[in-house]
Amino acid sequence: MTDDLPPAPNDLTGDLQALKAETDQALAAAPDLRAWDAVRIAVLGRSGKLTMLLRDLGKTPPEQRRERGAALNRLKDALTTAIDARRATLEDAALDARLASERIDPTLPPRPREAGLIHPIARTMEEIAAIFGAMGCTVSDGPDVESDWYNFGALNIPAHHPARADHDTFYLPPRGDAAAANSPPVLRTHTSPVQIRTMLLQPPPIRTVVIGRTYRADHDATHSPMFHQCEGLVIDRDITLGHLKGCLTDFLRAFFGLADLPVRFRSSYFPFTEPSMEVDIGWDRRTGELGKGGDWLEILGSGMVHPRVLANCGIDPREWQGFAFGMGVERITMLKHGIPDLRPFYESDIRWLRHYGFNPLAPTMLHEGV
Ligand code: PHE
Repeated sequence: MTDDLPPAPNDLTGDLQALKAETDQALAAAPDLRAWDAVRIAVLGRSGKLTMLLRDLGKTPPEQRRERGAALNRLKDALTTAIDARRATLEDAALDARLASERIDPTLPPRPREAGLIHPIARTMEEIAAIFGAMGCTVSDGPDVESDWYNFGALNIPAHHPARADHDTFYLPPRGDAAAANSPPVLRTHTSPVQIRTMLLQPPPIRTVVIGRTYRADHDATHSPMFHQCEGLVIDRDITLGHLKGCLTDFLRAFFGLADLPVRFRSSYFPFTEPSMEVDIGWDRRTGELGKGGDWLEILGSGMVHPRVLANCGIDPREWQGFAFGMGVERITMLKHGIPDLRPFYESDIRWLRHYGFNPLAPTMLHEGV
């Protein structure tokens, strides 16, 4: 630091030389502007050392006064220069330190967002709504706690049907009188009761999908007591099996992103549809690859809405007809993304969610494929 200081005038003598040396040392030792200011005041301040020497000039014998005065002035110049130089150095250092500590690097990549991700179930539900929405369907919903009538009776499920057996259905404590005790409320075992609610709420034509939670007393690697279903209901004057097949084929191909996914309709039985059909897609049983391999995988249930179900909702089956379908949201999600086990869907394991989650800023857009 003393390097930047001007050389001490070599004609200073004795006490003046000592004051110059002492000040240079104090300046060099001052680590910051506050310490520097203390040195400045101690030398040039009102009772500073140089000020005192100047004041004492009057006491100098007249014959030495001129020379002493000139020496003091040279010392004052030298000290002022040294003090100013030290301040410039300290100010530069302070600025450098600030620049270093407050530095921003505009070339750094953006920090990863801390925001959450979309759960694969939620993503699939969005995709279902997007695809059927593009076909002109509304989205309907209903309560998770249903009456026996909505969940079973109105859907033409007779009392002896296995779906009513205790091992499938969660029954809730009965409310009200003794008659109600015979048909206690249930946690809906499928989304089909929303078919009934929708038909009671609005006259046909109807085009709607229902996406929501369902419950069955089942628990293993492929069954969870709570799961999700998607239901579809289309009612109009001239809706046929052909519409059902076209609609579901289009949906499955759009959802799985495979324009030539093989889709097979196989006759089946549901109490609330007639005729009923199970829908299979082509896959390779060995590798799990969809659309290849010549094996078939059952994926959903469907059929033409049973005339008795229409009548139960006050819709004249001689005038109106339509189709309905229901499928498991978890199942198609696992198939689409190669997720081998059902259980982690509900375990909130952050590592699983990071792996299978979806960017919330990349919404479901049909024109990009879902
Ligand atoms: N509700 C049926 C189930 O849960 C699926 C289904 C819905 C079948 C609509 C036909 C029509 O298995």
